[in-house]
Amino acid sequence: MKNIHKNILHIEPTHGLINDPNGLIYDHGKYFVFYQWNRFKLDHSYKEWGLTTSFDLIHWQSQGSALIPDTIKDKDGVYSGSAIPKDGKIHVFYTGNTKNNGNRKSYQIHAILEKENTFVKQPQTIETPSGYTEHFRDPFISKENDHWQMLVGAQTDNHHGTIAIFTSDDLKKWQYQGKYFENKILDQMCECPNLVTFKDKRLLLVCPQKRQINLDQDISSYSAYYIGKQENNRFIPDSKLTKLDEGFDFYSPQVFQDKSGRKIMLAWMSRMTDTQEEACPTKQFGYMHCLTLPRELILKNGKLYQQPLKEYLDASQTRKKIETKEIKFDSNLCFEIFHFNPSNNSKFEISLFNDNIQLEYKNKNLTFRRKDWSTSKFNTKTFQINEIYQIDFYCDRSAIEIFINNGEKVLSARYFCNENERKNIFLSSHNFKFEIKDLKI
Ligand code: FRU
Repeated sequence: MKNIHKNILHIEPTHGLINDPNGLIYDHGKYFVFYQWNRFKLDHSYKEWGLTTSFDLIHWQSQGSALIPDTIKDKDGVYSGSAIPKDGKIHVFYTGNTKNNGNRKSYQIHAILEKENTFVKQPQTIETPSGYTEHFRDPFISKENDHWQMLVGAQTDNHHGTIAIFTSDDLKKWQYQGKYFENKILDQMCECPNLVTFKDKRLLLVCPQKRQINLDQDISSYSAYYIGKQENNRFIPDSKLTKLDEGFDFYSPQVFQDKSGRKIMLAWMSRMTDTQEEACPTKQFGYMHCLTLPRELILKNGKLYQQPLKEYLDASQTRKKIETKEIKFDSNLCFEIFHFNPSNNSKFEISLFNDNIQLEYKNKNLTFRRKDWSTSKFNTKTFQINEIYQIDFYCDRSAIEIFINNGEKVLSARYFCNENERKNIFLSSHNFKFEIKDLKI
């Protein structure tokens, strides 16, 4: 059977289940995207790192398994982590997950990518300091002026989310430096911390998680950021916690720097419920989930913008450009970009893929609806936004990322429609400028 949901640009596994992007790095002309992978089953019972590589952030080459759970310290999962270059080699740090008689124990493990794509796991590992539970994971490494720094997502003994910090002079011996950041808003656990350094500001990415402590289960979680600064191994926010994405499928982002210094973020493009995972239409083709497109992070006048890479625009061609109050057209099975520039104060309604995706703007409120393939009802979100001057839709076959006002807000969602449902309508109270582009790759 033809797979009409197979995405063109979004990274997907060849088979099995993908979750967090890991170890993102640009090295010797090549982009490395490792990821959490269950290559055996379409569930979360097994975790290793898979790898895909690219020379241009558009074409990806799957490289199969990269790090597998084959030691006593990672036997129950090679969990998330990050990468850093040192002395011409890629060094990664990840969490080794172990469970013995139901008791979790975590290790932060160092591995070096040696010749022929083989990782050599290093003997020194970090054990959880006192004051924390074993929900201690997802090391994020950065290079500070004269030393290395590791942030680890954590849960305190009294079940609050926090981030621990370690420092090192050589990536081998690590000193625990206490809590980097703690706040009630981090809920009961903070997964996947990331730190991005801009000229005069730092961006701290966090994934606060609510857990059912007794059952050791995730109940709800989301990804968000603070803008602030770092002083004496502590993060000091000067913004409130803000969600990174206002859509339905976005979690555990990771940021790296490319060859020209751009800060690029990828995330897991799923926050599916168990019922949605159960009914996920790609399961019949032996794989599940994808990553978001790489997005450039830009900090302008103290505000964060997320933008699609310019590579995509460079590789696309205009199919249609008009000014109108209403347009109806069909999507094809290619990757398409729609630019929509509404006039000031207009109300508008947008329906994509035969109502599978809907946007409605009125009274300064934007409502986003996505048809839930497991129930055929709509998942809905509404938020206030005082002015909309531009919306860019990046449409893959079963994944859409919607960038509002140059990436001031982003909405990410998976959707699943039939081939004959690829019908779109843009309708507005006032004239708008509109352009459709096809990606030519
Ligand atoms: C986030 C997460 C991480 C963990 C990994 C396991 O989605 O739960 O905290 O390292 O996934 O796959």
